[in-house]
Amino acid sequence: MKLLLCGDFDAGEEAQWRLALAAAAPQARFLSLDEARADPAAVQAALVANPPPGSLQGFPGLRLIQSLWAGVDRLLADTSLPSGVPLARMVDPAMNAAMAETALWATLALQRDFFAYARNQRAGVWRTHDQRRAQDLRVLVLGQGQMGTAAAASLARQGYQTRGWRRDGVALVPLLATSDVVINLLPLTAATRGLIDAAFLSALPFGAGLVNLARGAHVVDADLLAALDSGQLGHAVLDVFHTEPLPSGHPFWQHPRVTVLPHAAAFTDPRSAAAVAMANVQAALRGEMPAHLVERGRGY
Ligand code: GLV
Repeated sequence: MKLLLCGDFDAGEEAQWRLALAAAAPQARFLSLDEARADPAAVQAALVANPPPGSLQGFPGLRLIQSLWAGVDRLLADTSLPSGVPLARMVDPAMNAAMAETALWATLALQRDFFAYARNQRAGVWRTHDQRRAQDLRVLVLGQGQMGTAAAASLARQGYQTRGWRRDGVALVPLLATSDVVINLLPLTAATRGLIDAAFLSALPFGAGLVNLARGAHVVDADLLAALDSGQLGHAVLDVFHTEPLPSGHPFWQHPRVTVLPHAAAFTDPRSAAAVAMANVQAALRGEMPAHLVERGRGY
């Protein structure tokens, strides 16, 4: 079995993937893009993590494109992606658990004003805040896919008043108006791009918190900065950005009410995800329906 393995891994990540994939499928050969191009007809499936646009062109034998990322927006933006080949996104329980941890950490820190204490420390200010209880906090999780569901379950277990929203569900504005913290775990699609704009932010109660763990393009940055500067938004935890790495000099870096993470809320964990990917590839090669197929028209 010859498979293409292609992504923007650093050397350490690639070594981890190769080790985990070899353990999951000892009989398979994982080819780099150059190796695969030497005999393109032999390549049966592709495992990809943000591959350069055009990478998947010219492989007539491809039976599955398995993303090693949960979000496939970058892949779908590649107009040369072969349209007839099924595309599957990564669903990795370890990744869901990592995302739930990040959502819980951010919510806890907002609940107990730990971001404000960190800000006060930098200013040499000794001042206490009210000690809110978890059950006092109304948390809205946008997105009810794998990660949204895992995050919401963990927040509910911790005692937060937790609600979930999906784009085809109930109206969003009334939910925003009664949410102290909003956690974004939506897929990035044409319908969700720019969702977090001035109208969205002004629907929140004054001083609410925003946690964006999905994609930078869900947010209109200028609107977010204006909401932070007016106090309408109390704090933003941002893991994802329009341009990554976040350019030096971007106002988010130094903003006292923004916590920046380097797209680190939840990585795909090769120790579990390699087996997930290979089970899906093997299903496709047996002629079975692979799991977690992307509906391209829908965008996820
Ligand atoms: C990370 O953002 C992913 O989509 O896996």
